[in-house]
Amino acid sequence: MAGQVNVLVVGEGGREFAIAKKLQESPHVKQVYCAPGNVGMPTVGVQPVAIAETDFAGLIKFAKEHAVAWTFVGPEDCLVDGIVDDFAAAGLKAFGPNARAAQLEGSKDYALNFMNNYGVPTARHASYRDQTAALAEIDQFGFPLVIKENGLAGGKGVVIAQDHATAVQTVKEMFASGQARLVLEECLVGPEYSMFVLLSNGHYRILPMAQDHKRAYDSDKGPNTGGMGAYSPLPQLSAADRQAMVDQVVVPTVNGLVAGGYHYHGILYIGLIMTATGPKVIEYNVRLGDPETQVILPRLQTDLFELVDRALNDQPLPEVVEDPRASFGVVLASQGYPQKPVHGQALGKFPTAAGVEIDYANVAGSLADLRGAGGRLLMVLAQADSLAAAHDRVYDYLAALDEPECFYRTDIGAKAGL
Ligand code: AMP
Ligand code: GLY
Repeated sequence: MAGQVNVLVVGEGGREFAIAKKLQESPHVKQVYCAPGNVGMPTVGVQPVAIAETDFAGLIKFAKEHAVAWTFVGPEDCLVDGIVDDFAAAGLKAFGPNARAAQLEGSKDYALNFMNNYGVPTARHASYRDQTAALAEIDQFGFPLVIKENGLAGGKGVVIAQDHATAVQTVKEMFASGQARLVLEECLVGPEYSMFVLLSNGHYRILPMAQDHKRAYDSDKGPNTGGMGAYSPLPQLSAADRQAMVDQVVVPTVNGLVAGGYHYHGILYIGLIMTATGPKVIEYNVRLGDPETQVILPRLQTDLFELVDRALNDQPLPEVVEDPRASFGVVLASQGYPQKPVHGQALGKFPTAAGVEIDYANVAGSLADLRGAGGRLLMVLAQADSLAAAHDRVYDYLAALDEPECFYRTDIGAKAGL
């Protein structure tokens, strides 16, 4: 790692903003490019590049022309579509799983088979290719029953049916909507956690933990979203429970990836429920979470460039050192998100304030005259000695805004007693 190098981040949301910002802070990095990025990125020294994240050939050409040392891939769809394989074929390194390993997120059935093969605890489940077979077995996992579409669904492909009649209707609707396969699953009871594991084949590091808030409105009401706010660390998680997750879930998963010859160099995000009989996996994602990344990375004292660079080059990984300070963030979303977000609304300029940062996501226009460009617009973030202090700083900032065509949750942090 002699001298400073350029790196490329693929994606355009708040997650990619946070990754690019953290990499730009590294003394090893000259310039972070982000394709396509967003108009807020220059506020943290990151240069957006107008290449679509689906244009792998264009990204490869750019990486070669700009002496990019490696590329960090943010979104799952690029990974499932084989961006890492295409980069490798062009002689370039990209951080993320190849298309084969990305099936762990791309197909629920594939992930469940992996868990069965390698002894990773999960819910009782079965997968079905036709409606008659699914309906015949609909009562065997009890109620409520979890019904999942097999493919990528942006967090919207899961229905928890309270009774037989609702389950029958849901199964029929999912097959009628063109699903080729779905999964029926026992409903697990207990608190839900996410673990973000950075993998370098058989070696791994666990990133700081974060609490997401998936429902659109206060008190966990309303439709599921990508996530409306997050904080880190988790005061409600005991050290013993965290260790159980590592021993019972992370270790068999990592060993399974090695045994299966996956050569996984990237992030694995493990969603799990801490049941009375221990942690059980409900999903694998093959990337960082959005908005968890925005609160996790500020707490990472280890240089992110070094972590990724060493992981990609199969060198010993540095320890993960967590900043003891808390990190707290709330998403500002367009009215109507997630069903039908307002688009193109005038947002104006977001004032700077001491101790508050803004990670921009779906915004367009210019920094002096921003416009909404989708559902989740930006995240307001603070770091402080306590979660309570960070919470107050973020909500004071939001309260002073005048954004009638936007909304945010007012109860982020309630689970931590805030
Ligand atoms: P997924 O897309 O698999 O993350 O599922 C979306 C949400 O459904 C999760 O965040 C959980 O809250 C819930 N969920 C998924 N699987 C289960 C399960 N087996 N038991 C209980 N809740 C579940
Ligand atoms: N915040 C949840 C996710 O990124 O999937």
